Amino acid sequence: MDYDFLRNFYEFSEETSIHIGNLVGYERGAEAVPIYLDVNTLATEHLAVLAMTGAGKSYTVGRIIERLVGLLNGTVVVFDTHGEYGRAFAQGQLQTNPSIASTDDARDREVLPRIIANLNTLQTRGGGIIVLSPQADKFDNKYAGQNRHLALQLDNFELDDLAEILPGLPEAQQRVLDVAIRQWRNECDAPRDIQVLIELLTTRLDELRQMEGLSESEQKALGSRSAGIAALRLRRVINESQSFYTAAAGNPTDLRAILGRRGEAVGRLVIVDLQGLSDDSRQIIVGLISSEILRLASANAEPTRPAFLVFEEGHNFAPAGGTSISRNIIKRIAAEGRKFGVGFAIISQRPSKLDADVTSQCNTIVAMRIKNPDDQRFISKSSDMFSQSDIDELPSLSTGEALICGRSIPAPLLVKVGTKALRHGGESPRILDEWAPGSING
Ligand SMILES: Nc1ncnc2c1ncn2[C@@H]1O[C@H](COP(=O)(O)OP(=O)(O)OP(=O)(O)O)[C@@H](O)[C@H]1O
Ligand SMILES: [Mg+2]
Repeated sequence: MDYDFLRNFYEFSEETSIHIGNLVGYERGAEAVPIYLDVNTLATEHLAVLAMTGAGKSYTVGRIIERLVGLLNGTVVVFDTHGEYGRAFAQGQLQTNPSIASTDDARDREVLPRIIANLNTLQTRGGGIIVLSPQADKFDNKYAGQNRHLALQLDNFELDDLAEILPGLPEAQQRVLDVAIRQWRNECDAPRDIQVLIELLTTRLDELRQMEGLSESEQKALGSRSAGIAALRLRRVINESQSFYTAAAGNPTDLRAILGRRGEAVGRLVIVDLQGLSDDSRQIIVGLISSEILRLASANAEPTRPAFLVFEEGHNFAPAGGTSISRNIIKRIAAEGRKFGVGFAIISQRPSKLDADVTSQCNTIVAMRIKNPDDQRFISKSSDMFSQSDIDELPSLSTGEALICGRSIPAPLLVKVGTKALRHGGESPRILDEWAPGSING
C-alpha cells in the first residue's frame, strides 16, 4: 500500500477531512501514508473512543478537536472531568506541546504550528480556548483569572428531566423537589437565584406544605422525613459544585454567546473544567449544559453554531444501568443531534459499562489497546464493523495506535495517531522523580 494507492482508494481533502495520523507500518518519512477522517460524518454522526487506561484516548480526541477548531474553525465543548484538557490553557495562555519540534512527520511539521497560530488568532476574536469552571479560587489560580465562572440555571432543565436530577432519588423525594421548583418558578423571574430554591427546601419548607393545589401524594411526601433528605442532597450538590446562578454571582452563563450564533465565523474550544467535583455534580452540570446546547442548536430563533461535544468517562455519564440525568440527554443527542449539527465523542475505559443505545449510534469507532475480554466482546457485539481478527489485535496495540472503523473512514485501518499541537494534560506523573529513590541513602 502506498500513498498513491490510498489516495486513489479514497478521496480526501484538507478542507473536509482531518489527518488523524499515519497508517501503522507506514508511519514515517517520505513513505508515510496519512489517514484522514471525514469531518461531517465524524462530527455529526458521533464517535466512540474505547480503550484501557493510558492507551491514548484523550490524546487522540485532543488531536481531533484542536484540528476541528484550529483548522476548520469549529465549535467544540469538552467536559473535562479531570481538568486535563484545561492544561492547554494553564495560566490563561495557549500552551504548546513541547514535542511539536521533534515530530518527524512532514505534514505535521507544517500544520502543528499553523494550528497554534490560528488558535491565537481566534483568541483575539473572542474564540480560541474558552474555559468554564466552578466559582472557586483553585480554578482562578489555574487559569490566572482567564476562566469564566459557571452560573447555570437549574430551571433550564425541562420539568420531565428534573425528576431525575439526582440519580436514584426515591419518588417521594422527587415530589418534594418538584413542588419546591414549582414554587421557585412561581415566585421568582428568570434568572432565578438558586439560593431561593435552597431556602424553600430548608427554612421555608413549611410554606411549601401550606401551598394550594398540592396533590395528595405531594402533601404526604412533604409531611414525611423525605422532605428534609431531598433538600439535604440537593443542597450538597449545589454548594459543592459552585456552578449555579445566584444573584450575588453576576450574570447567568450565556451559552448562546459562548457557543456562538450561526453565521458567527469564530471557532472555539470550550473546556468545562470539572476537576474535583462529585459524580452527582458532574452529571447535573454535563446534563444541563448538554441539554441547553441541543435546545439552542435546534431553536428557530438565533440557533447556535453546530457543536461537537466531548464526554470523557462516558460510562459515568451514559452508564448501562441505573438512572442518570446525563444519560437521558446523551441518548437524545445520539438520536436527534445530527439534524441540528450537534454530535459527540464519547470516551470510555470500560466500553461494556456504556449504554448500548448510545454506542450503537456512534458511526465512527476508535478502538485502542483493550485487554479486558468483556470489553472486547462488547465491541465485537456492538459493531459489525470489526472482524474477529481486528478484535484479536486490540490487546497488543501500542500507546497511540488505534483501530478506526466506521463511516468517516473508507475501511477499518490501523493508525498511529499523530502529535498534538496543544499541550496534553493526561501524562502520567514521573513517579520516580517524585519519589526520589536516590534520597533513601542520601
Ligand atoms: N498518539 C500519541 N503520540 C504520542 N504520545 C501519546 C499518543 N497517545 C498517547 N500518548 C501518550 O500516552 C499517555 C497516555 O495517553 P492518554 O492520556 O491519551 O491516555 P487515556 O487513554 O486517555 O488514559 P485514561 O483512560 O487513563 O485517561 C499520554 O501521556 C501521552 O503522552
Ligand atoms: Mg484520558
